[in-house]
Amino acid sequence: MNHSPVYILGIESSCDETSCSVTENGVVLSNIIATQEVHEKYGGVVPELASRAHQQQIIPVIEATLKAANITKNQLSGIAFTRGPGLMGSLLVGTSFAKGLSIALNIPLIEVNHMQAHVIANFAERAGENRPKPNFPFLCLTVSGGHTQIVRVDSFLKMQILGETLDDAAGEAFDKVAKMLNLPYPGGPMVDKHAKDGNPHAFQFPRPQIQELNYSFSGLKTAILYTIQRERKVNPDFPGHQLNDFCASVQFTIIDILLNKLTKASKQTNISNIALAGGVSANSGLRVALLSKKETLGWQVFIPPFEYCTDNAAMIAVYGYYKYLANEFSSLAITPTARYTF
Ligand code: KG4
Ligand code: ZN
Repeated sequence: MNHSPVYILGIESSCDETSCSVTENGVVLSNIIATQEVHEKYGGVVPELASRAHQQQIIPVIEATLKAANITKNQLSGIAFTRGPGLMGSLLVGTSFAKGLSIALNIPLIEVNHMQAHVIANFAERAGENRPKPNFPFLCLTVSGGHTQIVRVDSFLKMQILGETLDDAAGEAFDKVAKMLNLPYPGGPMVDKHAKDGNPHAFQFPRPQIQELNYSFSGLKTAILYTIQRERKVNPDFPGHQLNDFCASVQFTIIDILLNKLTKASKQTNISNIALAGGVSANSGLRVALLSKKETLGWQVFIPPFEYCTDNAAMIAVYGYYKYLANEFSSLAITPTARYTF
């Protein structure tokens, strides 16, 4: 029997983070994330600039990742990369690089779905960390700038989307509201910061009436815009001193919508192991609200460290490791897909 360790290199380039990670038997050795600051002044990700920045960053990031893991490229067992969903130009950089390296090193290529990897981030950890991890089956609420999904997870490789947003993602809703309030991009963390000192009941917003376990945030966004426009007719400086209250009310509404459907999913499936994933899981209000469900509904709640919640390659490498064990390899003919569901 061969006991040599399995080293997987993970490459993530779906949006505006160039990230690489090395895992040893599924345990994170290094995880380097180069965030592209070029988009800040545009108030959102500019796809063309993102591709160029990935192209510039990918080699230095890979070199730094191998160095931090203290291994050489010749020790790698396989290369996992994000195939989608994401921006096509950005995905092409990671995919092409992964292909080239897999040919050069003659090791397997492993395609990874970015959204499934967000779920698997719940298992990403460094040696000795030993934090509690969800047992199967569990439900994962994946909330990021581009996606909002409730996923049923039966094993590392078996997942099913139970519900998802029909329009805007939760993170997008935070970001767009922040933009309306002239807060800097990305606005989610700013709304969170102001919400901490505000009254969540100061402003009322309608809840979407969406079937089953799906979400919608575009109606809320419009309702918020109308509220701001109405208030500005009376007070052009709005929200002014009411900024904290306004942010708290917006955040309270988004969290309420998210947890409402999650609670429904838990009841329908009879699953009370609940995990969180994606960049919005950094939201302090969401964390508190979710953890309070431990007492009220007896949920077991799992929230990965922030490093593994936002876009990162450790989640790609960990997921790649489980695909490697299952011999789920990709051919060199594989192409990225901007829309990639499962
Ligand atoms: O997962 P992620 O890093 O990238 C995507 O794949 O989209 O998520 C980024 C999103 C952004 O919309 C950002 O505003 C939001 O996560 N976000 C937050 C917070 N931190 C990040 N939203 C609300 N509260 C936060 N503390
Ligand atoms: Zn993501």
